[in-house]
Amino acid sequence: MKILVTGGAGFIGSGVIRYIINNTQDSVVNLDKLTYAGNLESVACVSDSARYAFEQVDICNPSELKRVFAEHQPDAVMHLAAESHVDRSIDGPAEFIHTNILGTYHLLEAARAYWSQLEAERKAAFRFHHISTDEVYGDLPHPADSVELKDKTLNTQHSQLNTKDLPLFTETTAYAPSSPYSASKASSDHLVRAWLRTYGFPTLITNCSNNYGPYHFPEKLIPLVILNALEGKPLPIYGKGDQIRDWLYIEDHARALYKVVTEGKIGETYNIGGHNEKTNLEVVQTICTILDELVPLKTQHSTLITHVSDRPGHDRRYAIDASKIAKELNWQPNETFESGIRKTVQWYLDNQQWCKNVQDGSYQRQRLGTSVEL
Ligand SMILES: NC(=O)c1ccc[n+]([C@@H]2O[C@H](COP(=O)([O-])OP(=O)(O)OC[C@H]3O[C@@H](n4cnc5c(N)ncnc54)[C@H](O)[C@@H]3O)[C@@H](O)[C@H]2O)c1
Repeated sequence: MKILVTGGAGFIGSGVIRYIINNTQDSVVNLDKLTYAGNLESVACVSDSARYAFEQVDICNPSELKRVFAEHQPDAVMHLAAESHVDRSIDGPAEFIHTNILGTYHLLEAARAYWSQLEAERKAAFRFHHISTDEVYGDLPHPADSVELKDKTLNTQHSQLNTKDLPLFTETTAYAPSSPYSASKASSDHLVRAWLRTYGFPTLITNCSNNYGPYHFPEKLIPLVILNALEGKPLPIYGKGDQIRDWLYIEDHARALYKVVTEGKIGETYNIGGHNEKTNLEVVQTICTILDELVPLKTQHSTLITHVSDRPGHDRRYAIDASKIAKELNWQPNETFESGIRKTVQWYLDNQQWCKNVQDGSYQRQRLGTSVEL
């Protein structure tokens, strides 16, 4: 089968493409605008494959989308192209509304026009898989909200978190997005469901928790902390650092997404998570401990931790109930947070040139000339 992956030069999209080329016989068309977040070097290890093609296209460009569908004749779409950084959405929401909402609309329409003229067998097998986030659900009760912990500084040890009896996001949790980013993703989810209901267009949606791992653009918490620590720079943490996220290793997510697009049921939503609830402070301290072991300094890396003013509207806790995908599609994460974060730190130690290249755009300039937007 041939899968059109949008956003395939980004963090998760590139992981999906590496997974498909390395583990299946399927072909991939990587459709990406190459914004600052898109880096072809992240797929360099598979881009020589005869089963890989690249199209530098904006999902907001209907005529180019029409051309790509006509030329490549895909059997499925995995839609990951998006503006994805919450802080950027607070500083400038327009691009998020444009790409995440209008872009999804244009992609849905181009895909539907293509799908509606397919012959019966290919039409019945076609899938449109929209990749979304758990942030559409807003936030969950936090253990520090409980009476006994309310006035204490939250101890960051996982054993003290005691989230055991607190609710998780399920596929039926009501949408309550907090940031321009999550509101734009929620809107795109609604569009996808409407295209299913109104046009019978064969869609599936996944909502996933925070991903981490290799090839993550160094503006996000985990790579930023690793790279800052290596340079002896401050490690910024919003507020007390007691925000809880449910961390999932990228390769586990890529494998889950492939299962959904190939085995998932049309019209269904699947929540994907890693069963790894950690406070941001705990995540940063874990990275510091691993760095103390691998690249020791005279002082501990954790002395670089600096608390900065909290992000406006910052959600306090996300956590996923991933039992549906476990039960129906037999998917479980392979990595624990401890194994995944160790691999991630080691990858960033070994791939500092990748980090420099994606930050200054040099790989792309070399491959595509200077017209790439950086
Ligand atoms: N990173 C996470 O933890 C996480 C968790 C759950 C869901 N998601 C969702 O997964 C998807 C991918 O996230 P990511 O972290 O890989 O993002 P990313 O920012 O690393 O990558 C986004 C990719 O989309 C491309 N893109 C942006 N605008 C485009 C446009 N107009 N046309 C074509 N391509 C465009 C960029 O060039 C980039 O390659 C997003 O939809 C995001 O909402 C991310």
